[in-house]
Amino acid sequence: MSRPKVFVARRIPDEGLNRIAAAADVDVWPDRLPPSSDVLRERVADCEGLVSLLTDRVSAALLAAAPRLRVVSNFAVGFNNVDVPACTAHGVCVGNTPGVLTDATADIAVTLLLAATRRLGECTTDAKQGRWLTWEPLGWLGQDLAGRTLGIVGMGRIGFATAKRLHHGWGMKVLYTARTPKPDADRKLGAQHVELNTLLAESDFVSVHADLNQTTKGLFGAEQFRRMKPSAVFVNTSRGPLVDQPALAAALRAGTIFAAGLDVTEPEPLPADHELFTLPNCVIAPHVASATVGTRDAMARLCAENLLAGLRGDPLPHWVNPEAAGNRRA
Ligand code: GLV
Repeated sequence: MSRPKVFVARRIPDEGLNRIAAAADVDVWPDRLPPSSDVLRERVADCEGLVSLLTDRVSAALLAAAPRLRVVSNFAVGFNNVDVPACTAHGVCVGNTPGVLTDATADIAVTLLLAATRRLGECTTDAKQGRWLTWEPLGWLGQDLAGRTLGIVGMGRIGFATAKRLHHGWGMKVLYTARTPKPDADRKLGAQHVELNTLLAESDFVSVHADLNQTTKGLFGAEQFRRMKPSAVFVNTSRGPLVDQPALAAALRAGTIFAAGLDVTEPEPLPADHELFTLPNCVIAPHVASATVGTRDAMARLCAENLLAGLRGDPLPHWVNPEAAGNRRA
């Protein structure tokens, strides 16, 4: 029996790549930058499997041009780069990598929160560039953290892990929004399910962990920043388009809020001359929440397991569209 053909849209850790290569003929995109959508479409045209990254758009057009494709294994927990309804309509299974990057992502949310709150970006730049002249009683003053109020927007796995760190570590009171109340968060963290406007008005720190979808796109605009405290710190580790960036930049410039820490932006990469980079009270990381050796290995393992299950015709261990089961491509 011939081996299935798989396109892997970037080099991923050997933990996953070797497992895939043991069962399939693998074509790995060798460049640091992603393939263009035309090239992606060409390379996937005769493949049964695709390992995509969050930078690869898996569109209806790609699916139509890849009649043998049976499984898309996304090397990410988020899958807004994949047209899932189109995959389901074509009988193509979609997998993702939840769970294994929860801790690493919560760590980055806390890192950004601390860095923005204590003005670490400004401090290190000033120190390096000769503006550290003496110990200044009024220099680089940030905000306190202990015992303050944290607002988690989207109390899923990562929101919970972030709240757990800040509640147990800094004694923060936790407010959250979610489609439904989360009894675990209420019980273990004393968290309170509230409306978004209440969360914005009462929180000292607002950390965003919601999925990107039609309801959450542009969720944070001028009005939401106006509702926050002038001392508030805003953190986003979910997806850039949840935030209206010009509104965020205006709020940071005007002091409507104190600071922001972002691991995600729109677009990515953010151009080096973007105005957010010019604001001293904005700390920006290049979408690195899952970037630890152990986490990326675990993501690669899950990604391979999803892909290989899809090729065998088995249920995917982390299956985004189990509703495709009824019409899977053979
Ligand atoms: C990263 O942003 C992911 O969705 O895994």
